[in-house]
Amino acid sequence: MLNRNPAAHDVAHLGHLQLFTPAFDESVEFFTHYLGMRTHGSQGSSVFLRAWDDYEHHTITLTPRTTAGIGRTHLRAADEDALQRRVEAIKEAGLGIGWTDGEPGYGPTYLFHDPDGHEFGLYYESEWFQPEEDTRPALKNQAEAYPGAGVCVRRLDHVNFLGVDVEANRDVLRDLLGAKVTEQIVLDDGSVAGSWTTFTNKGYDAVYTRDRLGITGRLHHIAFATDSRADILRAADLALEQDVFIETGPHKHAIQQTFFLYVYEPGGNRIELCNAGARLVLAPDWRTIDWTEAERAKGQAWGLKTIESFHTHGTPPAPGQ
Ligand SMILES: [Fe+2]
Repeated sequence: MLNRNPAAHDVAHLGHLQLFTPAFDESVEFFTHYLGMRTHGSQGSSVFLRAWDDYEHHTITLTPRTTAGIGRTHLRAADEDALQRRVEAIKEAGLGIGWTDGEPGYGPTYLFHDPDGHEFGLYYESEWFQPEEDTRPALKNQAEAYPGAGVCVRRLDHVNFLGVDVEANRDVLRDLLGAKVTEQIVLDDGSVAGSWTTFTNKGYDAVYTRDRLGITGRLHHIAFATDSRADILRAADLALEQDVFIETGPHKHAIQQTFFLYVYEPGGNRIELCNAGARLVLAPDWRTIDWTEAERAKGQAWGLKTIESFHTHGTPPAPGQ
């Protein structure tokens, strides 16, 4: 008997997020020249960046800061009623911060935090992106013209937080925000070291993996989707040409089977380029896939050992890193 999550579908998808960098100019160059994103306005010292098929005002708010890391992660509610329902649930759980004006292009946003201290914003109102003459797409069913330069990331795909208590953070996404838990890493002692959750039919939109250094509020990586696996091979060649640091890949993950490349942007934030092929989670009664320690020890799908820095590098960096 299917036990429906009463919060299911109240959150539509992962929206825009704030990223900090101590190397602002170089980071802007990375997002525009290497990834092929475009700027769409600025506010104060921040610049707004978007991928060519993101339908909203912007995707990344990049801000200079002495250390790298993630700021607020925004989620778009399905409608105004869904927004109010989730706000009430968050308040009741004691995780609410309060309402604020949205960033340019976005309506009233309710701020809250997860148990780990990562800040979130939940909103519904969103001004759809309007291309200028020089970036108008040939086909009106895509947001902006294909850039044809750099990696050409299509859209923001997911965010992977580091968390001290993966289960507590996972429970907020599932119980308060209606996410479905699709895959997990369950250690031999029964504790959960990684949790992949989705608001959509994609395999995952938000991930928590255990911060082995025990530091709260850190980022493991954000990921952008490319149209094809070939784009990711090309991204590796471009990284070589443009002196972008490749951490690992291209290869294929066992978990979620995503084809990947991990690079660091100049500020130190880890960025993944990913392609999940045609894989979707359609089953309404999807059974969470649990991966054991022994299965994880086999490495990635085709045998690549998980690189050690995957367990230690996060942003902000740990003291002394
Ligand atoms: Fe990822």
